Amino acid sequence: MMTSANVMKVGLFALCIGLCGCERQISFAGDVQPILAENCIECHNPGAEGYSSSGFSLMDYDAVMRGTNFGPVIIANDSQSSVLYLVISHKTEREIHMPPHHDEALAEGRGASLTPEQIDTIRAWIDQGALNN
Ligand code: HEC
Repeated sequence: MMTSANVMKVGLFALCIGLCGCERQISFAGDVQPILAENCIECHNPGAEGYSSSGFSLMDYDAVMRGTNFGPVIIANDSQSSVLYLVISHKTEREIHMPPHHDEALAEGRGASLTPEQIDTIRAWIDQGALNN
């Protein structure tokens, strides 16, 4: 028979999992950078269109944290206030969704959205402090 003390313990355990999230530790170098390299850097490097219109380079950690000509696009521990997260998760107006899905690009097989897993990896990395790890 379950004693009320045991019921308490089970309850606290469940609560703790809910609060801690028990999320995998994300690595910038191992998890985030490969996503950016494959989907963003072609436009966001000095000399390419994304960089010339926004000043945003995604070449390395320092550049990512520096942000655009208007300032940072990553707020450590707060994905929901981080423009980088908002544009990849389509929480902004369509014009600035990233990667941009212009019709010509889609026709050429480019400009597809990141996968839900990739978007969540970046979200978790920001919410874990946007570390250079
Ligand atoms: C086809 C080229 C291209 C690709 C690929 C691309 N971008 Fe962009 N990006 C742009 C352009 C152009 C702008 C400037 C948009 C504007 O301000 O109108 C921009 C702007 C941005 C901004 C600034 C938004 C703002 O208005 O503050 C962020 C953040 C961004 N991109 C992130 C990314 C990320 C992350 C990826 C990869 C998932 C990515 N971009 C892929 C072209 C690209």
